Amino acid sequence: MRYRDAKWQQAMKLTIDYTYMLAESIGSEHGLKLAEIEALAPKLKEIKEGFELRLRQGELEFVNLPYAVDEAQDILRFAASLREEFEQFVLVGIGGSSLGPQAICQALCHPYHNLLGKAARGGAMQMFFCDNIDPDEIAGLLEVVDPRQAVFNIVTKSGSTAETMGNFLVFREWLIEELGEEEHRRHIVVTTDPERGDLRRIAEEEGYRRFCIPPGVGGRFSVLSPVGLLPAACCGVDVLELLAGAAFMANLCHRAQVLENPAMLTSALQFLANTQKGKNISVLMPYSAKLGLLSAWFVQLWAESLGKRLDLDGRVVNVGPTPLAALGAKDQHSQLQLFIEGPYDKLIAFIRIERFFRDVPFPAALTEFSSLGYLGGKTLAELIQAEALSTSFVLAQKERPNYTIILPELNAFTLGELFFLLEMQTAYTGELYGINPYDQPGVEAGKQATYGLMGREGYAEQGAKIRAELARKRYLA
Ligand code: PA5
Repeated sequence: MRYRDAKWQQAMKLTIDYTYMLAESIGSEHGLKLAEIEALAPKLKEIKEGFELRLRQGELEFVNLPYAVDEAQDILRFAASLREEFEQFVLVGIGGSSLGPQAICQALCHPYHNLLGKAARGGAMQMFFCDNIDPDEIAGLLEVVDPRQAVFNIVTKSGSTAETMGNFLVFREWLIEELGEEEHRRHIVVTTDPERGDLRRIAEEEGYRRFCIPPGVGGRFSVLSPVGLLPAACCGVDVLELLAGAAFMANLCHRAQVLENPAMLTSALQFLANTQKGKNISVLMPYSAKLGLLSAWFVQLWAESLGKRLDLDGRVVNVGPTPLAALGAKDQHSQLQLFIEGPYDKLIAFIRIERFFRDVPFPAALTEFSSLGYLGGKTLAELIQAEALSTSFVLAQKERPNYTIILPELNAFTLGELFFLLEMQTAYTGELYGINPYDQPGVEAGKQATYGLMGREGYAEQGAKIRAELARKRYLA
């Protein structure tokens, strides 16, 4: 990797403080004994070996994404040409085909990116994410996007998801009306499976430019593929540094010792807290507004991967801790009351950034007021740090298990580390439950019922069932 030297990379290593997961800190009713974590070591070793074997056999392709540097260079070149051609980038996709790129842009762009002029954005494009089918939102988007200046990136692995394909139809028609049949083609870029799906065929027939999602990479594990890298490059993110961070974390995840391997450690904490201590809710609470959408991405990754009815032997298990997103410091004035005094059913994972790039000092004014005097001369970064540390401490005092992932800074490298860690943690936790973390039969069932109701060919049976039910409930005449 050409990115920074090994010393800098070491300095950017994220660490995990799990003191307040341990019985010696929070008591044995809710805390884990080190011996309990270590007892899981043989199982985790077996999982790691099985995982590495599948990798050698060409499976689990998401693990190879951090090393796809040549593809990333192609994406960078293509993004540079898009940035010359257009001002606005609209990503049309849903779930795993949208949340990762959203998380990247929020984490690494200026908080008011779209409001800055092009020069202040460093030539980066304005970014819009269209991941719903709310007619008000779509109609509104068409009022703020300029067809001559906009490129639409249609992202769907299956190439057939109703929401994405429906929005594609709307945007395509609008572009044709505004720009003409021929010119509209320049304004659509497709990211989809290289072999399957209607969108791939349409892209070929229409001549849309396209990127491939590797066949073995599922939506929620695709953030480091062109799904995330193309929008990231268009909004000015250093995608090579993002991949370098992920590769650095992949190395840490090769370590044999549970306590030294971040993925093994956090999956063990999550699994044991759930199965031994009844923590059915897994909260992710970053103390950084820029990581709010990372939590949304994680919630989807965790929920769709781990919420499963059947284990690998086909037994009904109905497993999966419910993920919950919270944001520090603002949720201290909302959900925290529940975390501290509600049911003992939560494990809270904090993310804390040690050094913010910018800081804002509190002026030493109005010092005669006790609510202000203590702030003067300190900074916003000091306050948010103090709040993160105090919240973790107070939870521990109340015997509420929590751990903190500490980022030295928030940059493309540490974000890459974080993405890869959370993906590996999810994969290993799925293995600990003995389920398949890579499928989503529940979501598929929902998709099929919608196809049936909307009259898609091949889904008549589901359509008839749901119509009968809706008629019974008098939603349909
Ligand atoms: O993680 C997943 O597999 C899902 O969330 C998908 O990303 C989501 O359903 C969208 O699917 P597709 O990319 O096929 O449009």
